[in-house]
Amino acid sequence: MPRPATEADVFDLCFRGVLVYLRLTMIDTVPAELILDRRTALPEDYAFLLKAHPRPTWEGHPNNGQWCQFWLARHTMFREFGEGLTDACEKLEAGQVEPQGFHEWFMPRVSFFLGELDTHHKIEEYHYFPLLTRADARIGKGVDLLESDHHVIHDLLRGAYDTIVALDAAIQDKLDDVLGVVPRMRDNLAGLDAGLQRHLDDEEDLIVPLILERSEADLGMH
Ligand SMILES: [Fe+2]
Ligand SMILES: [Fe+2]
Repeated sequence: MPRPATEADVFDLCFRGVLVYLRLTMIDTVPAELILDRRTALPEDYAFLLKAHPRPTWEGHPNNGQWCQFWLARHTMFREFGEGLTDACEKLEAGQVEPQGFHEWFMPRVSFFLGELDTHHKIEEYHYFPLLTRADARIGKGVDLLESDHHVIHDLLRGAYDTIVALDAAIQDKLDDVLGVVPRMRDNLAGLDAGLQRHLDDEEDLIVPLILERSEADLGMH
């Protein structure tokens, strides 16, 4: 899996540098059944423009501009990393790859994945979500839902990180412990991947139709 350009190549480094990322308390306006790990679908009144702009119309739409295409490409990258890293853990657990070779392949990629995902969420929360809510108040409850998702994903990410640290230590110092750690790490990464896939799909169904309806320039997205 190639390592694509980071979001820092596109977003202003100064903007990133001043961010102080505070995890606020869980948003309590989101109905319990819509919390990420319980939600099975996005209600129609949340995705209020999806019927007017269904997925098959997105590609090639004149308002699907540079920002939207870049943002969707980031989501595709996160989906691919989530699946690829979980798959690699399953191969290690099945004895199809050697721990040392796995370690060399896996560690830089999982580090890149977790770091970029965290940065992506910060940029959405501090810049694009407020901008969208100001542009159209109807997306407000959808944005609350997405921010609530970020909290759930952040907790899943922390769980995955903790087991990755344990696996890193086992591979470097105690090879006998590797197979004891791998199932936990695979489960944590698979849980993160499942939550992320749901979040990315729903985030796109909320935001892309609004961009297509109004255009990036009208919304002030750049
Ligand atoms: Fe997000
Ligand atoms: Fe996103």
